Amino acid sequence: MRISVIGCGYLGAVHAASMASLGHDVVGIDVDPGKVARLAAGTAPFYEPGLPELLAKVADTGRLTFSTDMADAAGAQVHFLCVGTPQQHGEFRADLSYVDSAFTALVPHLAPGDVVAGKSTVPVGTAEDLAARLAGTGATLVWNPEFLREGFAVKDTLHPDRLVYGLPTEAGVPTPEGEAARALLDEVYATPLSEGTPLVVTDYATAQLVKVAANSFLATKISFINAMAELCEATGADVTRLADAIGYDARIGRRFLNAGLGFGGGCLPKDIRAFMARAGELGVDQALSFLREVDAINMRRRVRVVDLVREVCAGSIVGRRVAVLGAAFKPDSDDVRDSPALSVAAQMQLQGAHVTVTDPQAVENARAKWPDIKFASTAHEAVQQADAVVLATEWAEYRDLDPAEVGQLVAHRAIVDGRNVLDPAAWRAAGWTYRALGRP
Ligand code: UGA
Repeated sequence: MRISVIGCGYLGAVHAASMASLGHDVVGIDVDPGKVARLAAGTAPFYEPGLPELLAKVADTGRLTFSTDMADAAGAQVHFLCVGTPQQHGEFRADLSYVDSAFTALVPHLAPGDVVAGKSTVPVGTAEDLAARLAGTGATLVWNPEFLREGFAVKDTLHPDRLVYGLPTEAGVPTPEGEAARALLDEVYATPLSEGTPLVVTDYATAQLVKVAANSFLATKISFINAMAELCEATGADVTRLADAIGYDARIGRRFLNAGLGFGGGCLPKDIRAFMARAGELGVDQALSFLREVDAINMRRRVRVVDLVREVCAGSIVGRRVAVLGAAFKPDSDDVRDSPALSVAAQMQLQGAHVTVTDPQAVENARAKWPDIKFASTAHEAVQQADAVVLATEWAEYRDLDPAEVGQLVAHRAIVDGRNVLDPAAWRAAGWTYRALGRP
């Protein structure tokens, strides 16, 4: 099938390459000529494990092309809308300007029978507005939210947990156009569907809500365990053991119960805020007021880590050398959008510490955001003569650091484990002061 993918960021680039690997003819379209040039040359414009290999695999087939010209979307039967919806400046609401401009540019190139499949995370109601704008084109809008995680984006796209189709409905049943669109999507996703991927077919509103509900639940789960970490700190309990114990209950589950510096990135923080804003517009803000608390618990984690560094530095970080291991918002990513690690680094720098940040992949992106911070290319370089070390992003290479070896490089053996991934006994045995969130 001929497919266009509008927007080639973390979502769109992976989606385009994955669809080509499934055998479709794909054109990826983006307004950024630099990104398009890199993708066209078969290079991933960001770090995502498995993406370079996937691009290389499809390059020889000739089934994947990239363009800055929306006219190249003409002729495709399904058009995936994958542009970003960041938080609006100074507000909780999502900024829909990229969705709006991509859609406006696409409409003149649509033919009757085409399907526009929205993947961007949008406030509920957006799909209905966009569908109205297709009137007279003969094209049909479906909402097909995406649940990929950065770091696992290729696997999540090719082997998703579930597929969701939000179709146009009348009196609760899909319209004939909706059924036709569904058949086209079934063809697009024939491979994952044949593998038994669960499919939920529903209406626009539900499909849009599924996405933000899922991210809100995940954010709530993380903030729940971080709230427990606060209780653990007040009582001398260990939140990692608590998470293990409650996680054995299959109804609760151990995944996404890792206490620490909390959530960041381009999705969870802005999605819960946009969801609260939308609930307010719909007159049901009370339903989501708990998300305010989820957000507040999460932001407190960042302050708490800085406080712990201050404690291990005998009460003041002014003029102290602090090494921060990690800049990306999570391991296996170079994404620094709303990164808790960078937030902690920047706070300490602004409070007078001399901060050196390192990250296996995200230094370039981090430097563009915080040029005043000093960056190092390796952990060993970053910790030289440090008065304190903060583990802020749990890359495997930081989890595996040898406390004795690192101890030779620092000025003072003090570590704050912002992700609860180090073995406190091993670090203490090597003469380190070890502090963590929610652990004695
Ligand atoms: C998230 C969702 O997990 C995806 O399902 C969704 O598709 C995506 O947003 C999106 O909306 O596009 P992602 O932003 O890649 O994916 O990152 P997550 O793996 O969800 O991690 C988010 C943050 O939570 C990270 O900063 C991570 O360090 C933190 N986290 C995660 C914890 O603090 N504790 C945990 O137990 C798990």
